[in-house]
Amino acid sequence: IGKELIVFETIDSTNNYLKANAEKYPTGTVVSAREQTGGKGRLGRVWQSKKDDTISFSVLLRPEISPMEVSAITPLCGLAVAKALNEYFDFGAKIKWPNDVIIGNKKLVGILTEMNCEFDKVDFIVVGIGINILNKDFPEEISKKATSCALESDKEIDKNKLLALILKHIENILLKGNYSFNEENLKEYKDYCATLGRDIIFTRKGEKVSGKATDIDNNGELVVTLEDGTTETVFSGEVTVQGI
Ligand code: BTN
Repeated sequence: IGKELIVFETIDSTNNYLKANAEKYPTGTVVSAREQTGGKGRLGRVWQSKKDDTISFSVLLRPEISPMEVSAITPLCGLAVAKALNEYFDFGAKIKWPNDVIIGNKKLVGILTEMNCEFDKVDFIVVGIGINILNKDFPEEISKKATSCALESDKEIDKNKLLALILKHIENILLKGNYSFNEENLKEYKDYCATLGRDIIFTRKGEKVSGKATDIDNNGELVVTLEDGTTETVFSGEVTVQGI
């Protein structure tokens, strides 16, 4: 991963670029940009990436898996990024299920995975990762919920070295686990997951339901124990953790 690395000064979105040009590039190609003018977040949100504030990049993958199995890739990449950041900065980054990397209750990293399928086969996947690096302030609406590496650590930041370390961890975790959860990476994921053991609220058919996050299953899905003692599996979407 990253043997082919394309760096743009400015682009609308590295995810959009790779999706539109996937056929030109080999598996493992990484496209990064110093600035994105139309950075995309999950659930239709905007991802702020002003000049040099973030590390924003997308990875092109062509794993031989079914579309159903793609959901494991984003949380596994979250784990890889959290591990790399903790190795570099020695701070306590954790994961808010399924894939945000957080410090305390503030978001440091967001991941947006998009896939292209042909019939029932995955043609390619683009994993887009945005890391707040030098940001000192954030737009009003997210200022209490976002942080950056520079706000959390005094260590001097070499973005190229950091990106190389992150790519190494992504490659390790994805290739060793064959793009899915196994005993080793599931244990690591659970150790990193700040959502486990917390009271949460999730949405079921438009209705808000509360419970406690008690486990992560083999597919990386969240197991929630409800007040009546029954359990329910929550697939991505919106989960609010009390206090995060
Ligand atoms: C989120 O937390 O909502 C996901 C944010 C993902 C941002 C990254 S930055 C690189 C890639 N290109 C995009 O347009 N989005 C992703």
